[in-house]
Amino acid sequence: MKSKLKYLLLLLILNTIEASFRCDYKYSFKAHAWFKSVVVPATWFDARLRCSLEGAVLASPTTPEILAEMRNLMNHSNPEFEIFTGIHATVSQGDFYTIEGIPLSNIPVTWADNEPNNEDNKESCITLNGNGELADRQCQETRPYVCYRMKTFKEEIKDCGTVDLEYNLDARTNKCYKFHTVPRNFSRAFLACSAEGGHLAIINSETEATVLKEIFAKYPEADLVGSFRKDGAFIGFHDWGESWDWRTIHGQTLTDAGYSKFRGNPASGQSCGAIDRNARLDDWWCDATIPFICEKTPDFPAKCFD
Ligand SMILES: *[C@@H]1O[C@H](CO)[C@@H](O)[C@H](O)[C@H]1NC(C)=O
Ligand SMILES: *[C@@H]1O[C@H](CO)[C@@H](O)[C@H](O)[C@H]1NC(C)=O
Repeated sequence: MKSKLKYLLLLLILNTIEASFRCDYKYSFKAHAWFKSVVVPATWFDARLRCSLEGAVLASPTTPEILAEMRNLMNHSNPEFEIFTGIHATVSQGDFYTIEGIPLSNIPVTWADNEPNNEDNKESCITLNGNGELADRQCQETRPYVCYRMKTFKEEIKDCGTVDLEYNLDARTNKCYKFHTVPRNFSRAFLACSAEGGHLAIINSETEATVLKEIFAKYPEADLVGSFRKDGAFIGFHDWGESWDWRTIHGQTLTDAGYSKFRGNPASGQSCGAIDRNARLDDWWCDATIPFICEKTPDFPAKCFD
């Protein structure tokens, strides 16, 4: 009896703890979760990646409350309007699970007319329409989607304004940085930083160059696992498709940005920007997959409470 009371009390306390998350997500009291609707259609794989990099999960209608919230967010006059859910069989065809691993059989579903049909044996991703009905679709098609994050009952946002503990504040620049050890090409690196609420790092001073050099030094080649070049890391500059007219991803020339120590070679034809281990700027192939460094200001995206 006593322990039951204690348990109830604990539950009560947990429920009153404020949780916080990025303000581009809205909290739903009914679903106990944060939601964001992404209107730009993406393939299922890109939708999953973007939600995940934002600290969330591609949403699936696993409970009536989550389903209701998803339908609210997609409330579109056309009931045929579809969004991707996190339910997929991309690993093993026919084995449908949510991203979190809940089997399709445990989810209360209504199928749209003539669905599922696995047309041409190519449909391994599940959509939700405005009527709350599911259908199977090709994962390479594009749809809008919803990202969500369950409330975890603890204050999670730290100094860097993110739930991502790999961002560290540097007092010299008052910026937060994250070194990505999972290599990506320039375009995916840009996506990753952006989804995390930051951008590929831009060097604005000798001091900031020193900061990045020190961060890079924390990841010696021997500690980076995989077969990729480990002597460069993408940062935020490229030639914008104009050979050798280097500018930051925010459009400034390197000199205007405040740092232009360059070791590149104009003959190489490489159009994307990286640093070497001495923080000298270097040109790289945009499709190379190498580590990269993101930067974010501690107060963006803004932090909201539930
Ligand atoms: C969509 O919005 C309309 C008007 O705001 C409302 O009547 C309707 O129930 C909503 N549909 C869904 C599926 O939430
Ligand atoms: C970057 O990587 C993604 C995912 O692997 C790929 O789809 C895309 O084509 C690549 N882009 C370039 C420019 O190599």
